[in-house]
Amino acid sequence: MMQRADGIFPALSCDIDRIVEIEKKCFSDAWTENMFRSSLEDPESIMLVRILDGCVIGYVVASFVLDEVNIDNIAVLPEYRRAGIARALLNRVEEEIRSFANCIMLEVREGNESAIALYSSLGYERVGLRRNYYHNPTENAILMTKYLLSG
Ligand SMILES: CC(C)(COP(=O)(O)OP(=O)(O)OC[C@H]1O[C@@H](n2cnc3c(N)ncnc32)[C@H](O)[C@@H]1OP(=O)(O)O)[C@@H](O)C(=O)NCCC(=O)NCCS
Repeated sequence: MMQRADGIFPALSCDIDRIVEIEKKCFSDAWTENMFRSSLEDPESIMLVRILDGCVIGYVVASFVLDEVNIDNIAVLPEYRRAGIARALLNRVEEEIRSFANCIMLEVREGNESAIALYSSLGYERVGLRRNYYHNPTENAILMTKYLLSG
């Protein structure tokens, strides 16, 4: 079988096992395989993977309702972090939704400093707090939003 090219692409059904593997390494409250499969089948979701040497090393899941987009999940394998992969994934989501979306929203664990630094560096601003939103372990969620310039 031909190896897939390196880059960012829409996720395929055959990527899900590998995505679930990465998810378990990255989160204490990991999404299940079914959650990823439902996102993949949902016409109002975008799931992108970063391929390197034929393998998935990171992914992002976003969903939209009318002109509002939510980043539902993003992760990069620990050994490939700080190389701009998450930034590139989020920039690609932005490109894909720019024609119809006014803003992108997300929740992040209050103690997740690297993710908060990532989002802040891309222009997301803190807009609120949801107390005890996360479980395993229980933690507050910071709500962040990026408004997109129209046109
Ligand atoms: C958060 C996460 C997705 C970032 O992925 P990444 O590919 O390493 O991020 P990038 O390399 O694109 O980082 C872009 C910018 O974000 C900021 N950033 C990212 N990680 C950072 C860290 N550990 N400390 C400080 N700043 C950080 C920096 O500004 C960075 O730019 P720079 O490297 O030029 O300084 C990754 O750490 C991860 O998978 N974490 C576990 C899963 C997770 O927490 N997901 C988010 C859930 S809300």
